[in-house]
Amino acid sequence: MYLLGALSLLAAVQAVVVPAIGPEGHTHSTLSADAAPQGKNVTINGVLTYVSLPRERFDPSIAVVMLTDVFGLPSPDNLLLADQWADAGFATFAPDYLNGDALPSDGLANITAWSVNHGEAQTTPPLLAVISSLKERGIKQIAVTGYCFGGLYTIRLVQNNTITVGTTAHPSSLSVPDDIDLIKAVSHVAIEINNAELDTGFTPALALVTDGVLGDGQYPPGYERRQFDGVGHGFAVRANASDPVQVAAKQGAFDTSLAFIKAHLK
Ligand SMILES: *[C@@H]1O[C@H](CO)[C@@H](O)[C@H](O)[C@H]1NC(C)=O
Ligand SMILES: *[C@@H]1O[C@H](CO)[C@@H](O)[C@H](O)[C@H]1NC(C)=O
Ligand SMILES: *[C@@H]1O[C@H](CO)[C@@H](O)[C@H](O)[C@H]1NC(C)=O
Ligand SMILES: *[C@@H]1O[C@H](CO)[C@@H](O)[C@H](O)[C@H]1NC(C)=O
Repeated sequence: MYLLGALSLLAAVQAVVVPAIGPEGHTHSTLSADAAPQGKNVTINGVLTYVSLPRERFDPSIAVVMLTDVFGLPSPDNLLLADQWADAGFATFAPDYLNGDALPSDGLANITAWSVNHGEAQTTPPLLAVISSLKERGIKQIAVTGYCFGGLYTIRLVQNNTITVGTTAHPSSLSVPDDIDLIKAVSHVAIEINNAELDTGFTPALALVTDGVLGDGQYPPGYERRQFDGVGHGFAVRANASDPVQVAAKQGAFDTSLAFIKAHLK
């Protein structure tokens, strides 16, 4: 009887594929045009990669791989975010897994048309090329931090046990709860999620479904989720400098992911 009840309850939960959000749905940045990234573009295993190294001494056996949103390496916000990871003490690598075809952030792009050439088949090979090269170069532990579009790939790397720890903010394109169930079934990699109250993709309701699978100690490798109120999709990458709520949320997401990563590196 119990089993039947549980099965019919499960059947009632429809899997939702979190939609990709176009430029108009992202938090708008007020970054000044003269903001100067401190890192360099390097080709790693054939893939353009933005590399930002800490100014202080750092552990070369650890790397942060940052998976950008759809605006990729042409977006200064993404490069400065990679620099922030470097300033926190990690050699940081942001691969161009958009294959030189980032969406313009001017709000005129058609994300549906763009997505046709940016599925897993096109996106995964450059990503794995960089990760395998880092491992060949002696990097023993990789922390992945993925934003929006990068959320799905963070989840995949967690499911595939390719990395040491994963964090994501306002992830898109994953299937909830299916991809979360798969994490629980096959992964031993800890995962942290920052979500936005006003995100129309990975909504607070989907965040609660995720908690239902991984929360309350149900996922021994480690799970944490933090919701930021009053902000929307993209808040962990961009903020309006004159909006203190956005500024605090962006920093809060970074600090939460950083603490989680530090706690789960060996
Ligand atoms: C790195 O490459 C991207 C994409 O081509 C470009 O927009 C960016 O300005 C470059 N950054 C640096 C620091 O060279
Ligand atoms: C966006 O692209 C899709 C797929 O190519 C197309 O069906 C749709 O009409 C386009 N939307 C706009 C507003 O151009
Ligand atoms: C994860 O593993 C699946 C199944 O082998 C594979 O199809 C996919 O490309 C992998 N993705 C990543 C990001 O490693
Ligand atoms: C930033 O916020 C200010 C004050 O609310 C607003 O006037 C401005 O248009 C915003 N800028 C952007 C780029 O959204």
